[in-house]
Amino acid sequence: MVRAARVVLRSGEQPIPKPVTDLIRRRHSTRAYVREPISEDARRALLAFLLANTDGPLGSRVRFELLAATAESRDSLRGLGTYGFVRGAQAFIAGAVGEAPKDLEDYGYLMERAVLRATDLGLGTCWLGGTFSKSGFARGIGLGAGEQLPAVVAVGYPVPGCETKDPLRRFASSASRLPGEELFFDGRWGIPLTAESAAAYGEVLEAVRWAPSASNKQPWRIVRSGDDWHFFLRRSRGYRSKSRLVCLVGIADLQRVDMGIAMCHFGSTADELRLGGRWRLDGRGVAASEGEAEYTVTWGAT
Ligand SMILES: Cc1cc2nc3c(=O)[nH]c(=O)nc-3n(C[C@H](O)[C@H](O)[C@H](O)COP(=O)(O)O)c2cc1C
Repeated sequence: MVRAARVVLRSGEQPIPKPVTDLIRRRHSTRAYVREPISEDARRALLAFLLANTDGPLGSRVRFELLAATAESRDSLRGLGTYGFVRGAQAFIAGAVGEAPKDLEDYGYLMERAVLRATDLGLGTCWLGGTFSKSGFARGIGLGAGEQLPAVVAVGYPVPGCETKDPLRRFASSASRLPGEELFFDGRWGIPLTAESAAAYGEVLEAVRWAPSASNKQPWRIVRSGDDWHFFLRRSRGYRSKSRLVCLVGIADLQRVDMGIAMCHFGSTADELRLGGRWRLDGRGVAASEGEAEYTVTWGAT
């Protein structure tokens, strides 16, 4: 059912520029940047966006900072290492979030809003969840006790054509995604959602499909039940919440961040298409999870 638009902005929040569907199609990970600081105008616009982009839909508050080189201070990013995975980044967005039940999902949601704002400003971006020096960035944003820094985003002007030469894109098959039949289900698990059945939500689901995710694992699954869209996390091998990687190296539970990114693409596209809805946390009416899929959130009628 199509409902009237109700794009709810929290106080001070700036909308993602339109058309968001176009920004989602244009975004891809950039790992080689021109060695030129981002323009003063772009820096100010991104900073203004970040300062207002603080309240996640599931109750967490994130404090973002833009760590950027300027013409006067080109070496101000010293200490912010990316282990050679990203070359020439001229800025990073880093955020701090306190511990809360849906902290990582909110972090993913808000950071991806910033990624889409940066895309609109003509900037390239790359999420970094594993390949960044945690201690350097923690110092950079003055991480406090009780705060976490799950991931950062590199920002800058892309070296033209760099994505075609990026070996990591090939390694992670970043230019492709799983087919919708493996991601979106109708009423219960195992019944793929058809285009007819998805109707106006077809484009919303396509926006989820093209979301970035750690190692392009695409762990999001959605089960539609009437007017409700239930989001689940199907964990990939090596990305368990208590995996050895998570415990030993202190890498965050990145697939929960991926869920927040998918929520951002879903909600902002649904808003743009004027399909009413809001996020809520109850999985009532969903058939029990398939296998080990974990319930995350529901988008449903307002
Ligand atoms: C939460 C998260 C963490 C990521 N961490 C890294 C990383 O540490 N290093 C890296 O090079 N890319 C990283 N990526 C980028 C993904 O590999 C990329 O999004 C995926 O392969 C899809 O490609 P695309 O962004 O070009 O669409 C990360 C992405 C996400 C969403």
